[in-house]
Amino acid sequence: MLVLGIETSCDETSAALVADGKAILSSTIATQLDLLRKYGGVVPEIAARRHTELIGYVIQEALDTAGKTLDDIEAVAVTSKQGLIGCLLVGVAAAKSISYSKQVPLIGVHHIEGHIFANRLSHPDLPVPHVCLTVSGGHTMLLYVENDCQYTLLGTTLDDAAGEAFDKIAKFLGLDFPGGPVIDKLSRQGDRKAFNFPRPMIRSKTLDFSFSGLKTSVINAFKNKVARNEALPLADIAASFQEAVVDVLVGKTMRAAEDRGVTAVSVTGGVSANSRLRQVFEETCKKRGIDVFFPNLSLCTDNAAMIAAAGYARMKLGEVSDLRLNVSPNVPLEG
Ligand code: KG4
Ligand code: ZN
Repeated sequence: MLVLGIETSCDETSAALVADGKAILSSTIATQLDLLRKYGGVVPEIAARRHTELIGYVIQEALDTAGKTLDDIEAVAVTSKQGLIGCLLVGVAAAKSISYSKQVPLIGVHHIEGHIFANRLSHPDLPVPHVCLTVSGGHTMLLYVENDCQYTLLGTTLDDAAGEAFDKIAKFLGLDFPGGPVIDKLSRQGDRKAFNFPRPMIRSKTLDFSFSGLKTSVINAFKNKVARNEALPLADIAASFQEAVVDVLVGKTMRAAEDRGVTAVSVTGGVSANSRLRQVFEETCKKRGIDVFFPNLSLCTDNAAMIAAAGYARMKLGEVSDLRLNVSPNVPLEG
């Protein structure tokens, strides 16, 4: 079955064609990096307007790349839950028009479920049950994945998401946007032990996260250097900050895996592209006899292929939406 996926929940306008929830025939992503750089982050109203300008071209490009037309589409899956309301509305309106005009099923998808399916697309053999860490600009969550589309929330962030912390620290240090990839690259030249930043909640009994205290520590360390007129070792600050985030993410995920007695973990979302996070996960999991799965790099950040794959799985369970489908900017993942 050929599914057209549409994703416009934040700052990427994306469309993809995926066959049987497995084979990516095309995946087109138009980023709004020019706007992000100009405004230092996502401005919801401006992002929504840009989606409106781009969505038609992006869908056409996805069709052309796959050598298909709208007549070949057998279902449309669209991110309708979790994201910026104006942005979500653009994708959902486009998906409804295609569903209505071509008389094909419409499936509303939760954005985080999309991220979970990025790993299913990359690793068809991904075992269940497993523990999934989803880390992005908008969320940080630990989930027990009992089966595809069946989840239990184990922990979440109490304040900033991990990617948000990367972006805010990069902005504070005067680095480019989005901050995650920039800090990742800069950290390779830095000493990750130069600053001993806190590992928030690493020993707390819950599996929740908090990154705002770490952010404050980094800002204070920077300000102390400035006050003392000392050189600003940006690469060391970046590497030490990244190490603290990585330690917390890996530590909590290992605890969740232990609590649940699973031997597989998956990591997904924009931050799962982080090279140090991947390295520490690989090393730690190897020592503990746990298999770890990451999406292909192109599927870590927001994309419509993961939405098409998740939509296909929901459709197989008989969960199809209709033209009354509405957007929900902030709803828990149901499973
Ligand atoms: O999944 P995504 O595209 O959007 C959301 O659903 O939020 O994730 C974007 C986030 C941004 O905060 C970005 O800084 C972060 O993922 N990110 C990274 C890396 N690449 C992207 N964070 C750390 N290291 C990276 N290499
Ligand atoms: Zn995302």
